[in-house]
Amino acid sequence: MNDLSTYVKRIKDGQVVAFPTETVYGLGADAWNPSAILDVFKTKGRPSDNPLIVHVSSKAEIREFSDTLPNTALSLIDAFWPGPLTLVLKKKANVLDLITSGLDTVAVRMPDHELALSFLSMTGPLVAPSANKSGRPSPTKAEHVKNDFGKDFPVIDGGATTIGLESTVVDLSDGKVVLLRPGKIGVTEIESVLNEKVLFSDSEATVPKSPGQKYSHYKPNAQVVYGTIDQIDDSFFYLLLDRRWGKSRNTINYNGDLEKLSRELYDRFRQADQFGYKKIYVEDLSSYKYEQPSFYAALKNRIEKACTEDLNA
Ligand code: TXA
Ligand code: MG
Repeated sequence: MNDLSTYVKRIKDGQVVAFPTETVYGLGADAWNPSAILDVFKTKGRPSDNPLIVHVSSKAEIREFSDTLPNTALSLIDAFWPGPLTLVLKKKANVLDLITSGLDTVAVRMPDHELALSFLSMTGPLVAPSANKSGRPSPTKAEHVKNDFGKDFPVIDGGATTIGLESTVVDLSDGKVVLLRPGKIGVTEIESVLNEKVLFSDSEATVPKSPGQKYSHYKPNAQVVYGTIDQIDDSFFYLLLDRRWGKSRNTINYNGDLEKLSRELYDRFRQADQFGYKKIYVEDLSSYKYEQPSFYAALKNRIEKACTEDLNA
């Protein structure tokens, strides 16, 4: 059992606490406390131009951060909150620039997780980036947080998260509906609620709409390689999708289950590191593109980022 009161006290004292959500573990700090928020950036080693998501425990609380909610926001909140959908909206003047990295928008979500919601209802709104060292795979278990931040780091243990990939992020701040980060809630589901086309963010834009997208992310120490796989080599680690492959110590076969791969991806990345593998091969997902479009888009986005060389090196 987690006794939340000691963690609530830490937050009230301006300290950070990691907590579970349905997507990944978050590194929480009081959304109204500048020094606590600075500590989040410091703990993660996160660039200060990458803004944070505010987490709330009720739909009404979003009004503390944005008072210009378009109808699209109201419909999406109605349909998907609590849930893995983050909305980017025009921010109220008093929202701290530290959260938004100076942008005039703020990202908000209400997680669908009992422990997270009880915690948030006791602390008030928390900023919470994924609770990993910047650039590393997001944590889906309490032990992952401790691996990154040390064994005594304060983590509320809620077991393994059920979704395993971060929330879908949608920008509604400009009169349009723009997907900034794909997640479990897919474009088709959003379009069917809004009766409106979802646009894709222009990654060529000089001012990136979602600053996080320009940094390398989700990377284990092993090199991640994505594509078709013709043979299995004993010295590498394989995440396979195709039913034709058998089982061996260094292969995990997902048999086309992208939901399960999403749930386990980051854990497998960290496991491969623990076993000392130098390369992780992830099999091409494209034959499941139409069967499971939202998990396909979310997985492809994370895997491709995990494959890229460090853009800031
Ligand atoms: O599932 C999740 O969203 C997890 C859990 C803990 O809730 N959190 C998470 O936070 O993934 P983080 O900080 O790792 O990712 C936040 C993403 C980044 O890509 C960031 O650039 C984007 O949201 N973001 C935050 N505020 C924004 C804003 N005002 N405009 C555009 N993008 C924003
Ligand atoms: Mg993150």
